[in-house]
Amino acid sequence: MLFFKHAVMTLLLVGLLGLGIAAWVIIGGRFDVSVAAQLPQPVHDLIHQTRVNAVRREAHQLQAPTIDLDDDAVLFQAVTGFQSMCADCHHPPGGQPSALAQGLNPPPANLSEAADKRSLEELFWVTKHGIRMSAMPAWGTTHEDAELWAIAALLQRFPMLSASDYADILQAAEAAGLEHHHP
Ligand code: HEC
Repeated sequence: MLFFKHAVMTLLLVGLLGLGIAAWVIIGGRFDVSVAAQLPQPVHDLIHQTRVNAVRREAHQLQAPTIDLDDDAVLFQAVTGFQSMCADCHHPPGGQPSALAQGLNPPPANLSEAADKRSLEELFWVTKHGIRMSAMPAWGTTHEDAELWAIAALLQRFPMLSASDYADILQAAEAAGLEHHHP
C-alpha cells in the first residue's frame, strides 16, 4: 500500500515536471523556428524514409494514363507548366538552385536525380498532393490531372536532358504559344 502511494506521488511529480518543461518551452518560446534549424540526423532520416514509403504506398494505387510526349501539344504543355509552376524551386536539367531554393528546409529535391529513383506514379502523386510541412505545394488543388501527368512524364526525361535540350524545348513551346495567339 505504501509502495503504491509512493508510485502515485512519483508519477504526479514527473507529470508536473513535464508540464513545467512544456510551459518553459511553449510560453517562453524556447524553440528554434528558423529555417536553419536542423533535426538530429536519425530523426531526419526516419521522417524522410517515412515520406518516401508513404508516397510509394499511395502511388501504388494509381494507374498512369497513356501520355504521349512525342505529341508536341502535350510536351509543350508539360514544359511550360514546369517552367511556371516548378522551376523557381526545382531547377531544370543542368541548372543551379535558385535563391528561393537555397532558403528552403527541407531543400527542393533535384528532380533529375529523383526521376531515377521514383516511378511515374510517385512523381505524379507528389506533384498533385504535395508534401506537408515542406514547401512542396499540392498542384492538384488548381490543376487538372492530365496536365500533372504530362509534367510527371517530362520529369522522367530529365536525367537524359542537358540544359540546352531543356532550353530548346521551352523555346519551341513558347514559339508555338505565340503562333497560337496569332494564327
Ligand atoms: C515553393 C517550392 C516548390 C515548388 C514551386 C515545387 N516544389 Fe516540388 N518540392 C519542393 C520541396 C521543398 C520538396 C522536398 C520535400 C521533402 O524533402 O520532404 C519537393 C519535392 C518534390 C518531389 C519529390 C522528389 C522525391 O525525391 O521524391 C517531386 C516529384 C516534386 N517536388 C515535383 C514538383 C513539381 C513537378 C513541381 C511543379 C508542378 C514542384 N515540385 C514545385 C518544393 C517545391
